[in-house]
Amino acid sequence: MHSFDDYKRLTEENLNKLFNSAAKGFALNEIPELLSASMSYSLMAGGKRLRPCMLLAACEMFGGDIHGALDFARAIEMIHTYSLIHDDLPGMDNDTLRRGRPTNHVVYGEGQAILAGDGLFNYAFEIMLKASLADKKDKLPFINAMNAIARGAGVTGMIAGQCADLYAENKACDDAQLLTYIHLKKTAAMFKGAVTAGAYLGGADEKAINALAVFSDNFGQMFQVTDDILDVTADEGFGKSKGKDAEEGKLTAVSVYGLEGAKELAEKLTNQALNALADFDEKADCFRLLTRDMYSRKH
Ligand code: IPE
Ligand code: IPE
Ligand code: MG
Ligand code: MG
Ligand code: MG
Repeated sequence: MHSFDDYKRLTEENLNKLFNSAAKGFALNEIPELLSASMSYSLMAGGKRLRPCMLLAACEMFGGDIHGALDFARAIEMIHTYSLIHDDLPGMDNDTLRRGRPTNHVVYGEGQAILAGDGLFNYAFEIMLKASLADKKDKLPFINAMNAIARGAGVTGMIAGQCADLYAENKACDDAQLLTYIHLKKTAAMFKGAVTAGAYLGGADEKAINALAVFSDNFGQMFQVTDDILDVTADEGFGKSKGKDAEEGKLTAVSVYGLEGAKELAEKLTNQALNALADFDEKADCFRLLTRDMYSRKH
């Protein structure tokens, strides 16, 4: 098994290749320069790269070849980055800082930012389809992986959560059930897509995939509860504006439970995530470590 740092390095190298080849006139040569610039502006701005790393870790956990999964890893990061560009738009969260930089629409304007997001989303599927068509082996794991990612990002996944998040804005409600729905959909669904896609690529059976889905639901909720807490408490490394959730009237773990209640909820979800991994051996240790790290992060 590789470490998370290895997965992150591989992901960065692979994402870099995409845009280096663009500069040399390959791969992206038919994409307008403005579009590839706005796409790479957000994609190459850093970020924790959690979803691609988790995809690679899940693949390797079942003996899969992580090099064969790299196209799927960069695709999930592209879809995640698209969701961030759109999330920051004036019509959504109206944010001006992301990954330590001015947001995409601040630099390129709203219209181009919408297209940068659309471009990343579609290009991700082009990359996954190309990889699946090129491979001579059994195509089913590739199709299952794409299906997992599409569902995670889709109208019963991340987009559903973003819809509910906007709907709940400024309603002054403290509906805990709606909060859980929002967190499961807007955040956990993409983690579940990444982890189960990696597991399919690695050849996992349905029992293992179901256990990883339960892990992802709990990990993803804990991650979003922690993000809600950090909107109030984060240190410098956050790379996003603070205090925006209260300003925008968001329904968050902090608005429903208060800061202390939200911390208790994050702890409970951390334990539930770890319990979901109980049947896995030390090959799941990187998920255990990541869960503890994300629970205790300060930015
Ligand atoms: C931000 O995700 C959106 C949320 C789900 C809170 P990350 O915190 O993973 O953002 P990056 O990719 O590191 O920038
Ligand atoms: C958004 O949640 C999750 C996405 C689907 C992008 P937030 O709106 O809390 O994410 P941040 O705080 O802007 O990263
Ligand atoms: Mg949002
Ligand atoms: Mg936001
Ligand atoms: Mg947030």
